[in-house]
Amino acid sequence: MSVKLPASFGGFGYEYTRGVTVPGGGADAFDALASRYDALFSPAANPLIALARTRVHAALARHFAPGSALLEVGCGTGEDTLALAERGHTLVACDPAPQMLSRAEAKLTAAGRKGAVRFVRGSAATLAVDWPTLGARVDGVFSNFAPLNCELSLDPVRQLLQQALAPGGRFVGVVLPRICPLEIALFLARGEPRTAFRRFQRAPVADVDGRTFPMRYYGARDFDRALGAGFRRVETRSLGLCLPPLSFGPQMARTPRLLDALAVVEDHLAGLPGLRHLGDHVIVAYERV
Ligand SMILES: C[S@@+](CC[C@H](N)C(=O)[O-])C[C@H]1O[C@@H](n2cnc3c(N)ncnc32)[C@H](O)[C@@H]1O
Repeated sequence: MSVKLPASFGGFGYEYTRGVTVPGGGADAFDALASRYDALFSPAANPLIALARTRVHAALARHFAPGSALLEVGCGTGEDTLALAERGHTLVACDPAPQMLSRAEAKLTAAGRKGAVRFVRGSAATLAVDWPTLGARVDGVFSNFAPLNCELSLDPVRQLLQQALAPGGRFVGVVLPRICPLEIALFLARGEPRTAFRRFQRAPVADVDGRTFPMRYYGARDFDRALGAGFRRVETRSLGLCLPPLSFGPQMARTPRLLDALAVVEDHLAGLPGLRHLGDHVIVAYERV
């Protein structure tokens, strides 16, 4: 099955645009997308998503002990929530978009794993305020495919991590950084310089399926600054260095062998100093000291 992406949808939609911003931010935009999210990002529609998730899951396995208790920030429709529940983790899974959250809940229920997960409606910022009232203890926190880019400051993320994690606890974030060399090259080759350099805008705006809201690009150094001395970075790894940005997935479905070859090269280069900060996404991991 092939699913056509809307023209305005750039990967997970963080695309510079002159559009008008919606008041509810990322939550409203993702709510409207919820019913189509899983179809748009199925392995058949976008093979880059599956390649990226495999690499994210490998990172989660490196940092989180089997069966440990986790907080997932921006769980979306629960793809990773289910994978982690099936690995024996218990989770608090949060998302500010009610439609995304209800799809995640239905997915876990259908798989018979609902008992492993407590779903909470909220953003990283609201959870930072509400965390004490939840009375939850977790060993690790993770956030996949850029929910944290929807926060205009990383201060609430630090506040949340300080409360949720005890010393030794780990945080794994998958975020959109400022420099993605392949994205620049591919959009320049397509004659779209504005999109090629969208990540350098001072006040970037995301476009999810035509709904826009302010966002920020964050790299490892932004997290270092925001998290401060209480956290030690233990891993930085590029995701989408040789593999094209996720927005190119539908086109790449026609060239599976090329994708496999690019994935092999990426796996050799993604952790190298100088390269690990670049890409469509970066995986950053921190330990609470
Ligand atoms: C690109 S989706 C990723 C969803 C999921 N992690 C995945 O891997 O499919 C981004 C998600 O972040 C959520 N989100 C938006 N703003 C957020 C915020 N400030 N804090 C946490 N999550 C947010 C959206 O509702 C959406 O479900």
